[in-house]
Amino acid sequence: MSATGLDGRLALVTGAGRGIGAAVVAALVAEGARVVATDLAVDGVPAHGGRVTGRTLDVTDASAVEALVAETEDTLGPLDVAVNVAGILRDAPVTELTDEDWAAHFAVNTTGVFHVSRAVARRMTGRGRGSIVTVASNAAGIPRAGFAAYAASKAAAVMFTKCLGLEVARQGVRCNTVSPGSTMTDMQRALWTEGEEESSARRVIEGDLASYRTGIPLGRIAEPADIADAVVFLASDRARHITMHDLYVDGGATLRA
Ligand SMILES: NC(=O)c1ccc[n+]([C@@H]2O[C@H](COP(=O)([O-])OP(=O)(O)OC[C@H]3O[C@@H](n4cnc5c(N)ncnc54)[C@H](O)[C@@H]3O)[C@@H](O)[C@H]2O)c1
Repeated sequence: MSATGLDGRLALVTGAGRGIGAAVVAALVAEGARVVATDLAVDGVPAHGGRVTGRTLDVTDASAVEALVAETEDTLGPLDVAVNVAGILRDAPVTELTDEDWAAHFAVNTTGVFHVSRAVARRMTGRGRGSIVTVASNAAGIPRAGFAAYAASKAAAVMFTKCLGLEVARQGVRCNTVSPGSTMTDMQRALWTEGEEESSARRVIEGDLASYRTGIPLGRIAEPADIADAVVFLASDRARHITMHDLYVDGGATLRA
């Protein structure tokens, strides 16, 4: 058994098609885990030497989530780990936010986490072990202009995960969140002005007082692997006494020292 205890374990990852989700899959495989990598489309998901099974899944669809978790356990065995990574961000001031934008954030970022966590927790509690990790956001902990729907949906996901962690602790199931700051993915780049990537990145790192952002004290934007390392730690036996924790991986951007 590897030091993390993930060798041979089975993990489910949502939003695994790119960005942070794809990095989480790679990091779990590096620890010897088998992974069911799910996303809206999984055509490009690497097989990692046969250790990864790609499956399409829309986390907003409760019955699709139930069916996929049941099929996974029937065909591949009990799930030891579930990682909620699927997420969306549509930045807009509240005065311009549509009903659809608001609902979409909660459908994916909050209800999607509920669907997946409920489906796996039902099974994990019966076995007396399991680990659920939800990727939230540091925006859940600090006000950001243009992020109201996103931040509120992520804050709800954090509190949901903590409450679930309390309910299932006696059954040996741990539930934690990782809250990233700015991370170099398509979601981050979509926030930047086209053709001005360099100055956009500099503004994120150095801060922008006009939008009340203080910058990133560690002086860099995270790579997806930085977030994946924290997820793998919380998923693993190395974190066996940690539950209901919210681990910020944001280079100090929210000044949480
Ligand atoms: N990149 C950042 O700066 C950053 C910062 C904080 C938190 N996060 C969070 O990290 C997670 C991953 O973000 P990312 O940067 O890799 O974004 P990304 O946009 O590159 O990837 C998100 C993935 O989620 C999938 N997805 C969206 N809706 C879905 C649905 N209904 N069902 C299943 N999958 C769905 C997308 O297809 C995509 O592959 C998200 O939850 C995001 O909110 C990202």
